[in-house]
Amino acid sequence: MNPILVTGATGNVGRQVVHQLLARGLRVRALVRDPDRAAQLLPVEVEIAIGDFADRDSLASALIGVDRLFLTSANGPDQVAHETAVIDTAAAAAVNLIVKLSTLGAEVGSPLPGLDWHGRIEQHLQRSGVPSVVLRSNLFMSNLLANADSVVGGRLLAPAAHARASFVDPADIAAVAAAVLADGQRGTDPLVLTGPTAISYTEIAAVLSAVTGRRVDYVPLAPDQAHEALLAQGLPPWLVAHLHGAFRLLRAGTFEAVTDVVPSRLGRPARTLADWAEDHAAAFGVTPAAPGHAAPADVARRFLDLVNAGDLEGLAHLYEPTAVLHWPAGQVTEGLPGIREVLAQLLTARPTMTGDVDHVLQSGNLALASGHWTMTGTSADGPFTATGRTADVLRRQPDGTWRMVIDSPIEPTATA
Ligand SMILES: NC(=O)c1ccc[n+]([C@@H]2O[C@H](COP(=O)([O-])OP(=O)(O)OC[C@H]3O[C@@H](n4cnc5c(N)ncnc54)[C@H](OP(=O)(O)O)[C@@H]3O)[C@@H](O)[C@H]2O)c1
Repeated sequence: MNPILVTGATGNVGRQVVHQLLARGLRVRALVRDPDRAAQLLPVEVEIAIGDFADRDSLASALIGVDRLFLTSANGPDQVAHETAVIDTAAAAAVNLIVKLSTLGAEVGSPLPGLDWHGRIEQHLQRSGVPSVVLRSNLFMSNLLANADSVVGGRLLAPAAHARASFVDPADIAAVAAAVLADGQRGTDPLVLTGPTAISYTEIAAVLSAVTGRRVDYVPLAPDQAHEALLAQGLPPWLVAHLHGAFRLLRAGTFEAVTDVVPSRLGRPARTLADWAEDHAAAFGVTPAAPGHAAPADVARRFLDLVNAGDLEGLAHLYEPTAVLHWPAGQVTEGLPGIREVLAQLLTARPTMTGDVDHVLQSGNLALASGHWTMTGTSADGPFTATGRTADVLRRQPDGTWRMVIDSPIEPTATA
């Protein structure tokens, strides 16, 4: 199997594309500038190609034996030169699929620098003749991390008036990119990726209030006021111009439309802002109520505590978004939305669980934890006691915690 090359592999989206491709059993090569940073952020199974967009020889080496690639880079004045260098090198290497991360509104000549750059790269890609799929993304939910400090202080400041935008979780962008790369699909019109619904900053503040447990108020800024604040932060002029223009478009409703690309490609709903915010609660000042799961065995033990506490959200947090559940008997559930439903069903029995982890085998970022358990509860058929043994595959996440990838029984469950 030829490796798929992921550029921008240490970034917001690229990092998750790596995870999503590996989860599909595909071979992944990551183009990285800094191998130490890559070792911290990426799973051990990834092949590392050290390189730089500004160094064509390094790109040519990274592309040896590659026929598909994910193309993304940092926003900035070098973006066009960087991404077109990858496209040209890929064309010379006979790559037969480039999946490019672009932006909603990409257009050559746009007054917004970022939209113009993406427009130029898309045009270059089309002219290169390399088969491609362009993912035009709406605003990332992760942009809200730039507001984290003021949110911790209870205020969400933005020149957004009362406009709405269908922010998208970078995890969903990565999941769609991985699906397209895995399918090898080519030659569609650009796919426009959005979140599940358009929300206003007042609604965003309400979600952040709910997730942090502290009151967060949206404070609308006048455009000029926001512009001065960005300049005062010392941001580069192109970025100030880009953000100023982006909020102007946001206020005009440009980012409001919702598409069905994410649910139709992934077979599940797009992730909500609440889903994203829960995963990033720490950035908004939330200290986990219970110790984090810094070792594989902690996850299994925490599972018992959360079942006993009836904590559905806590339980769902123990799984990777693409995890697979092999219980109840005879049922296989793939992906967090379905797993959440199974867990919710389990909790309706108001169960009490005891048990422990018996063995953990760990190799790099993967671990196999086996254990035993007993559960009592009351189902629709009356009181029951169930016992069983499980073997869970866990993966270390970029933040160092562990989550379940596969949760399965290793012997039939006895129920009385
Ligand atoms: N934010 C939004 O709302 C939004 C919306 C639509 C589209 N987009 C687009 O999404 C893209 C940004 O995605 P992102 O957030 O995943 O980016 P990101 O987190 O900033 O990551 C950028 C990646 O590019 C790598 N990189 C930068 N310069 C490089 C170089 N010279 N050679 C090799 N690698 C280099 C970085 O590596 P290092 O770790 O070494 O720095 C990093 O892995 C941009 O094109 C942006 O326009 C963003």
